[in-house]
Amino acid sequence: MATAVGIDAAVDALRRGGLVAFPTETVYGLGCDATNDQALARLYAVKGRPVEHPVIVHVPGADALDDWAVDVPPEARILAGACWPGPLTLVLRRATRVPDAVTGGRDTVGLRVPDQPVAAALLHAFDGGIAAPSANRFGRVSPTTADDVRADLDGEVDVVLDGGACTVGVESTIVDCTTVPPAILRLGGIPRALVEELIGSSVALRTSGETASPGTMAAHYAPDARVIVVDAGDVAARATGFLAGGDRVGLLSVQPVPRDLPEGLVVLDSPVDADDYARMLYSQLRDADRRGLDVVLAVAPTTEGIGAAVLDRLTRASAS
Ligand code: TXA
Ligand code: MG
Repeated sequence: MATAVGIDAAVDALRRGGLVAFPTETVYGLGCDATNDQALARLYAVKGRPVEHPVIVHVPGADALDDWAVDVPPEARILAGACWPGPLTLVLRRATRVPDAVTGGRDTVGLRVPDQPVAAALLHAFDGGIAAPSANRFGRVSPTTADDVRADLDGEVDVVLDGGACTVGVESTIVDCTTVPPAILRLGGIPRALVEELIGSSVALRTSGETASPGTMAAHYAPDARVIVVDAGDVAARATGFLAGGDRVGLLSVQPVPRDLPEGLVVLDSPVDADDYARMLYSQLRDADRRGLDVVLAVAPTTEGIGAAVLDRLTRASAS
């Protein structure tokens, strides 16, 4: 848990235009003052992120909606009221104060209130908007611990706040509320069914193609190891084939783990259900690289609840 001193140093750094990595319930963010163009330029440079990719502005509470957005539709207020703080990002028409550097030149802004005590303390103490992408280098696996952040960005961040391991583990669900009906641009911590239940109508799913969020392209979230999504019944045969070819092969599988596996197959930690899978997913993919695996065979959880987001990330990781 971060100390008050950590928060003070982080707020000072943000006010001076610096970069602060901080925990959220989803993944660690790399943050800067969302109104400081120079800080935003440094943020994009450190991440290695294309400037036309917008970043999410993190705010202390739903009260801040009207500071950053205009024409906020009733559905957005319902979702904010029910899901914030929490793993939901709302895309809304931007207020004029939102810099182009945040929105990638678009006329919309993504807003989110994280549900994590260190993030909440930081946002309340800073009392402004913190623009923050995930604190990994562009196109790499998102960080779920402070050590992951240091491994990727050491020396380039002014303050790293440590809030322990992230409790959700995959990124926020992004809902574009500027269209009727609203559309999900990225599956994440808040299930689609809950969004639909809250607004009382179905939502579109626009997670690929030109209108989706830039940065949710197919080849994303990938470790160095090749990820292959397989059915439980195919694990033994696929593993045997890769092992025979000389590859170092790992298995990431929801429990129960398939039986009668070939010798030499490295069984990574096995999540008990979809929530557990989400929490462990990125750390297991990082672990696969640390172990020098060439191939990770992944058996996905069922796609109910957060399971849909887990399958989405595995599928994207496998596309690289
Ligand atoms: O859980 C999360 O959302 C984490 C934590 C740190 O809050 N953040 C995160 O940020 O995942 P990032 O930058 O890795 O992904 C943000 C996604 C990108 O795909 C971006 O294109 C999309 O959000 N996005 C941001 N603003 C948008 C906008 N105005 N319109 C459409 N997509 C937007
Ligand atoms: Mg990211």
